[in-house]
Amino acid sequence: MRIISIANQKGGCGKTTSAINLSACLAHTGRKVLLIDMDPQGHSAIGLNINTNELEKTVCDTLCHSNGPKVVLNDVTIEVNSNFYIAPSNISLSTLEQHLSMVQGRETKLKEAIGGLDQIYDYIIIDCPPSLGLLTFNSLIASTEVIVPIEMSLFSLHGISKLLKIIDLVREKTGHEIRVKVIATMYDKRTRISKEVLQDIKNHFKDSRFITIINTNVKLKEAASFGKSIIDYDQKARGFRDYMALTKEVIAEEKTLGLRLVKQKKSSPSARMVKKQFFCNDPNASCVKIVGSFNNWNTSEKSLMERKKDGTWSKSIILAPGTYQYRFLIDDDWVEDQNNPNQVDNSFGGKNSVIRI
Ligand SMILES: Nc1ncnc2c1ncn2[C@@H]1O[C@H](COP(=O)(O)OP(=O)(O)OP(=O)(O)O)[C@@H](O)[C@H]1O
Ligand SMILES: [Mg+2]
Repeated sequence: MRIISIANQKGGCGKTTSAINLSACLAHTGRKVLLIDMDPQGHSAIGLNINTNELEKTVCDTLCHSNGPKVVLNDVTIEVNSNFYIAPSNISLSTLEQHLSMVQGRETKLKEAIGGLDQIYDYIIIDCPPSLGLLTFNSLIASTEVIVPIEMSLFSLHGISKLLKIIDLVREKTGHEIRVKVIATMYDKRTRISKEVLQDIKNHFKDSRFITIINTNVKLKEAASFGKSIIDYDQKARGFRDYMALTKEVIAEEKTLGLRLVKQKKSSPSARMVKKQFFCNDPNASCVKIVGSFNNWNTSEKSLMERKKDGTWSKSIILAPGTYQYRFLIDDDWVEDQNNPNQVDNSFGGKNSVIRI
């Protein structure tokens, strides 16, 4: 199993965009991938259309179980797509440093949490926060590799040496090798600064950079705002081609590293939550809710679906394994899901839709 942190303490350099899209592209090529969000901003989950405020348990609970039973990564993991899983975070992770301040071994909490997952995943991708504190330190200690996104702006190379020093420190502390490679992001061939920074990267990181360059592409931004990876959003986009090229470079290293894919180990992920997207086609409705046994048939604001530009309504819900009945509440009418042929009679003489996870 390869464990790759996407790290750079500089904000907004494309860590999360790279983490989501590299994960999605690796999964697309058949690798089993777990994306771990180590950023309290929760952007990896938000960028995959997961409402982080509604999560009962997150990565934070797996790193610090002072008040309650032990939570493992599998308990918080959500299936996003075939082969693609995420362990999400939210603002609760910002308290970790404080909670662990007196705890011995606080830097190795993530490494411990990941232990044993090599039978399940081929890749773990870790989205780091824009800081060099305990969260990034935990990520680096748990990692076999680090990818450092560098965007094309004036001070983008400043601070990289500090990150490299910390990685050296981790190498010394743990005694394990961590391979580091940089990737140029948000490249705009029309600007001089892009050309200058790219040249600097080529000079400084001759053998430790990806040949692929991630160009500035508005589709990547749009995809995140729709809660999708570029694979699910637009496979014709430049951003898709760039992240697939990066993925190919990453995959090309598998042979040298002697990576055996999980498929050959005949192991599969165990029970976990699934992100399920529901759709309702009613362009004339003014309000659509999805109500069912998964939310105790509660018709509150939380059950509201989101209207898309084409007039369809959608909502993604995180579901634990089980069987659920539900209906749409379209304005004042209860309607079954036309996209789901599985239905049962309900006690009101109508039909409930049924979904099995
Ligand atoms: N190649 C790209 N082309 C266009 N927009 C991009 C590209 N990469 C990232 N962005 C956009 O730039 C912004 C910052 O990117 P992102 O969130 O990936 O950075 P980050 O390093 O994770 O930020 P933070 O440090 O806050 O975690 C986002 O709005 C994202 O959609
Ligand atoms: Mg981020």
